[in-house]
Amino acid sequence: MDSMNIGVLLGSTREGRKGAAVAEWVLEAVAERPARYALIDLADHPMPHLNEPIPPAAGRYTHDHTKAWASHIHGFDAFVIVTPEYNHQIPAVLKNALDHVFAEWAHKPVGFVGYGVVGGARALDQLRVLSGVLGMLDVQPQVELSVLTDFEGATVAREGRHVTALAKVLDAVEGWAPLARTYRESRG
Ligand SMILES: Cc1cc2nc3c(=O)[nH]c(=O)nc-3n(C[C@H](O)[C@H](O)[C@H](O)COP(=O)(O)O)c2cc1C
Repeated sequence: MDSMNIGVLLGSTREGRKGAAVAEWVLEAVAERPARYALIDLADHPMPHLNEPIPPAAGRYTHDHTKAWASHIHGFDAFVIVTPEYNHQIPAVLKNALDHVFAEWAHKPVGFVGYGVVGGARALDQLRVLSGVLGMLDVQPQVELSVLTDFEGATVAREGRHVTALAKVLDAVEGWAPLARTYRESRG
């Protein structure tokens, strides 16, 4: 089986976002891993507020931006979603991007790297519900970074328990990815 394509989906687009440093921390950690990882930066995929006339679960996308997003997401076997917590939830831009398509997320493993003043856990709890409704396969380990204590200047600390937690997330996502691809292929 080909190596797995895993997307690191960065869910914040704010000017001066800390998310860029968190995504970079994840991408540095995957350098020696067998799977191929690629950043999916929502800042590079601007989308309007969802305006598809047919619910995306029907799979009949109308707008070019949705078709382009669907085609991009289709190419990944699994995801690591990097998200901050905004008002105890995920950012609207991430929710909007997840809502835009459906089948392209389904039956694919997903792991979570959250961050916030207190680690982003409340946003991740909600993201687990959302990803489950999208048919994704969420793995149990997760990373919870505090923007107050887990950054060294502009970068995430490169040692400590969060490094261990990230490795567990990546191991789980990589472990399930080939099995999930086999499952998807068995469904045609
Ligand atoms: C609109 C908004 C709401 C926020 N709400 C929370 C919150 O509920 N809990 C929390 O821990 N941090 C909260 N924060 C702080 C963010 O976690 C922190 O600013 C983080 O750096 C945001 O990620 P970003 O820099 O990638 O945008 C909030 C920040 C913003 C901009």
